[in-house]
Amino acid sequence: MNNLSERPLRHRPRRLRTTPAMRAMVAETSLAPRQLVLPAFVAEGLAEPRPISSMPGVVQHTMDTLRKAAVQAAGAGLAGVMLFGIPEHKDARGSGALDPDGILTQAIRAVRSEVGDDCLVMSDVCLDEFTDHGHCGVLTSTGAVDNDATVALYAEMAVLHAEAGAHVVAPSGMMDGQVGAIRDALDAAGAVDTTILAYAVKYASAFYGPFREAVDSSLTGDRKTYQQDGANVGEALREVALDVAQGADIVMVKPALAYLDVVRAVAAAVDVPVAAYNISGEYAMVEAAAAHGWISREPAIDEVLTSIRRAGADIVLSYWAQEWADRYTLRQAQGAWVPSRRHSEPPLTSPGQRAEGPEVQP
Ligand code: PBG
Repeated sequence: MNNLSERPLRHRPRRLRTTPAMRAMVAETSLAPRQLVLPAFVAEGLAEPRPISSMPGVVQHTMDTLRKAAVQAAGAGLAGVMLFGIPEHKDARGSGALDPDGILTQAIRAVRSEVGDDCLVMSDVCLDEFTDHGHCGVLTSTGAVDNDATVALYAEMAVLHAEAGAHVVAPSGMMDGQVGAIRDALDAAGAVDTTILAYAVKYASAFYGPFREAVDSSLTGDRKTYQQDGANVGEALREVALDVAQGADIVMVKPALAYLDVVRAVAAAVDVPVAAYNISGEYAMVEAAAAHGWISREPAIDEVLTSIRRAGADIVLSYWAQEWADRYTLRQAQGAWVPSRRHSEPPLTSPGQRAEGPEVQP
């Protein structure tokens, strides 16, 4: 078997790695802006965009800067923007979520009027940004998350979003039956073309940490009675099957990196497109390490996004979507191989400095 004993050596896999053109030709995985979705936050009552400290480079937008970000996203050829709204006032029932003039509904309208059909307007259908207890649904008198009452609110919320101009609604609350209820409500409202991107597989994860800051979440405790246990993959496939049966057009796995095996299993199990969400904590880890000079930032981002595609995701939601797409456009304009492996990595700097080479080396 050991062909090292063969002389001369006939099998030399390294031949396919000899030059950038060779590596590009045999690359099995690719990524393009059309497969990337940019999540974006918009907060009520801001005069200026507010930086999110645990997600360097990501902000809570004002309505005005959100519009600009959406135009940029469309210009870069991104698939879409996923909108999250942060209201000034939260209450137990998350009533801001059903306010036709609430922050998220307004944002959907504003962004749709900017981008039209050039890029998809997607909206998070969930109550956690709107509730004062921070849970994804309304609570029973004993403090449990009330599945069926919550689903009824999601259905109303989805119709509101569709009427405001969302191309895609994305229920993320992990309530049982949410997809079917939303599909029925959309159809009854005549919104038969509104697409449902279902967070079908969503694990209770520590990696959502920075997102909690991003949406000013007041959650204490955890979401383990509705989000999934990270030990389970069979359960993920059951969740996916239920969502597809209820009318999900696209199913999503989230988080991505600690669950790449789940992305792979879901992609093998369904015939609808599969999305994966490269979440806040995954972003924060790379940014923090890069800021210390411990890893080279841009190659790390390329590697993360490639890994999610390689695992089987057709669509990737990432806070790096805009940056990556801009770099992609630049690389193409310069005739470099995409994704770039043409140039050697910029050297790591000493700790404390950011390892930042020129965007694309000449
Ligand atoms: C719920 C929602 C969450 C995220 C997206 N939608 C938070 C949660 O379930 O706790 C997390 C996204 C991220 O961490 O980047 N509305």
